[in-house]
Amino acid sequence: MNDEQTSDPLSRHAQDVIARDKRHVWHPFTQHATECDPTVITRAKGASLFDAEGREILDLISSWWTCTHGHSHPKINAALARQANEFEHVLFAGFTHEPAVNVAEKLAGLLPGDLNRVFFSDNGSTAVEVAIKIAYQSWVNRGEKRPILLAFDGGYHGDTLGAMSVGRGSQMFGAFRDLMCQVYVLPYPATFEGDDLVNEREAGALSSLEAILTDRGQSIAAIIIEPLMQGAGGMCFCRPSFLKRLVEMAQSAGVIVIFDEVATGFGRTGTLFAHEQAGIVPDLICLSKGLMAGYMPLSVTVARDGLFDLFLGDTFDRALPHGHSFTANPLACAVSLAALDLYEEEQTMARIAHINERHRATMEVLAARPDVVKFRVLGSVLAFEIKEGGAYQSEQSKALRAWYLAHGLNIRPLGSTIYLMPPYCITDEELTRAYEGMIEGLDRLASGALSRP
Ligand SMILES: Cc1ncc(COP(=O)(O)O)c(C=O)c1O
Repeated sequence: MNDEQTSDPLSRHAQDVIARDKRHVWHPFTQHATECDPTVITRAKGASLFDAEGREILDLISSWWTCTHGHSHPKINAALARQANEFEHVLFAGFTHEPAVNVAEKLAGLLPGDLNRVFFSDNGSTAVEVAIKIAYQSWVNRGEKRPILLAFDGGYHGDTLGAMSVGRGSQMFGAFRDLMCQVYVLPYPATFEGDDLVNEREAGALSSLEAILTDRGQSIAAIIIEPLMQGAGGMCFCRPSFLKRLVEMAQSAGVIVIFDEVATGFGRTGTLFAHEQAGIVPDLICLSKGLMAGYMPLSVTVARDGLFDLFLGDTFDRALPHGHSFTANPLACAVSLAALDLYEEEQTMARIAHINERHRATMEVLAARPDVVKFRVLGSVLAFEIKEGGAYQSEQSKALRAWYLAHGLNIRPLGSTIYLMPPYCITDEELTRAYEGMIEGLDRLASGALSRP
């Protein structure tokens, strides 16, 4: 790769946008005192973003795991324009519309068992917030108080208060500890290729679950997990058999099971939903990101029929007091429907299987390196650890991210974890470019030639 491409001067337009951004914008998960200038994006197509200088950047993390079929997809664009010409929004209490009903009906058909009741909100965090509230209130409506939630070490579920509480095991939210609700954090048996100790780790996690169910079972409202893969926690996988066992234990103790498939849903793990691989039905499931192909803020919390029925009654007290101005936004629903149709039209699951094969072949190549360990491949995700890797936002991980970006690759290490999660439309040539660039970055790091630009 050519280092000259990193030194092109920024266009006047980009300089102007950055200067104005720096005066007025507060970015997510960003330490503004130390962060480099942001990249100005002016266009995106397929698996690529284009900056203000027209430079291509392969979006190898699908813009925080949202983009599924590719950026600016013509069919989704057309569906969005069609709906915009009909109407853009209407309040969703006392009103309804076909795009929302279509999405709800389609999801109920795709999800297993009696997961039939779809509550719309705007993003992954609110989908989790709604799930926590449904679980908690369902006990209140039954006349019981169950204030404890169970979650997993390393789990991440979003940034609102309830979501942060169940994500406390991610170690990201220390500042908010005093505001959090009661959560008991269980050990997570993260596993990888050639892991000899996985059985022991799983047994340890299950016995912790058994102990808390025995001690406090009557006070536990729900357990939440990202099925098969913790995303922000570092692309940490668990086995389907472990997931199945824990769901059986929780459900037989009467505890509500929430699956957070905000990141794992819509094909990322090789099946449309991760939980399919374990053959189990949760009580609540949270979906977002791929739900609308990364286009617009939309999420759903889908409940089993029996849970919904607990909210019926003669008074408003039993109803769920939750809603947002943009609940079930028709533009987002139209996008979602078009995106869901594309799975068949473009044989998306076969594309994901192909990406998986390419990832596996790359893993074989990486396995020969002394500097990387703990390989994981599932669906469209490839992940591994740098042996001497730093923490989240360490200088080393920032240097690597900056080098990748300067060389046309959007790869953002999560601490010592390097991972790829490309949009499903990525071509073979683009994948080859991604693997070669990723490996060259590792070579630079290993040789000590990486410093922050
Ligand atoms: C598993 C999981 N749950 C919830 C969220 C929060 O979603 P959002 O960023 O849309 O609020 C995320 C975001 O990355 C996630 O990965």
